[in-house]
Amino acid sequence: MFQRHFHARDTDLIIASHPKTGTTWLKSLLFAIVNRFKHPKNESPLLKHHPHELVYRLEQGVYGEAFEYPRPQHLNELPSPRLFNTHIAYISLPESILSSGCRVLYISRNPLDTVVSLYYFILDAMKKILHEEDFIKTSLKDFFEDFYNGRNTNGPFFEHVIGYWKASLEYPDKLLFLKYEDLKKDPVSHVKKLAEFVGEPFSPQEESEGVIQDIIQLCSIKNLKELEVNKSGVFSKHYDKKSYFRKGEVGDGAHQLTPNMVERMNNLMQEKLEGTGLSFECISQS
Ligand code: A3P
Repeated sequence: MFQRHFHARDTDLIIASHPKTGTTWLKSLLFAIVNRFKHPKNESPLLKHHPHELVYRLEQGVYGEAFEYPRPQHLNELPSPRLFNTHIAYISLPESILSSGCRVLYISRNPLDTVVSLYYFILDAMKKILHEEDFIKTSLKDFFEDFYNGRNTNGPFFEHVIGYWKASLEYPDKLLFLKYEDLKKDPVSHVKKLAEFVGEPFSPQEESEGVIQDIIQLCSIKNLKELEVNKSGVFSKHYDKKSYFRKGEVGDGAHQLTPNMVERMNNLMQEKLEGTGLSFECISQS
């Protein structure tokens, strides 16, 4: 549906990601950046709406039928720039995203934190939809093996990341490649980079007035997690709104997995990323 029917506008901004790599965070940052002139900071729609209600998911919210994900009334009536997200692989993006002037922002994350984050998210969803007697808890070990072997709803993790990474090298004005860990380490320069990439750079006056820091604070997990709108309620029978905000840390994955799993994943990462110029910090348990 989405692949066949979506017509990108040149002004569209599309967040792409593998699930659990920081999509919700990037949605909130992007929304806050592009809408900063429309609302005073204490009246940001992010205070009243979950980030997934402000940036629509294309393959589910906009075109999907499977879940009651947030969806716009009229796609064509959304003001520009329209903000969307997708989890599909680069090679499966609709032609109009590739051929139009719209821009894509990809967020990636180290595989250890990604797999652990995904595990807890899926576990929560399964608990919600299955009756207690039908719920058989998948172990983290089994879940890890599937992820490690590329058995994953959105396709193998490394192929997903590498697809967007290579495209970002080929089309740097079209595709911005970000890492969750870099955003954590240096949010200021990354928020500036985001604003420049979408053609809305911060003015010296905004910088001196602390607008960047305000956006970072507004979109911090600490702040978003405590907002009433993100603490309660559901998107569908599968997903609690709060399940999109868990720990938001770098390195949690390595602590939850066995030394052997960490070593195998780090080796696989080196093998897969060799020669690409891309790397994630090899996170160990020490
Ligand atoms: P953890 O499960 O490791 O805590 P996605 O948004 O792609 O579904 O990714 C979810 C992950 O991002 C979760 O990681 C979640 O806690 C984290 N996250 C959500 N909002 C965040 C924010 N504002 N800042 C940093 N991390 C955030």
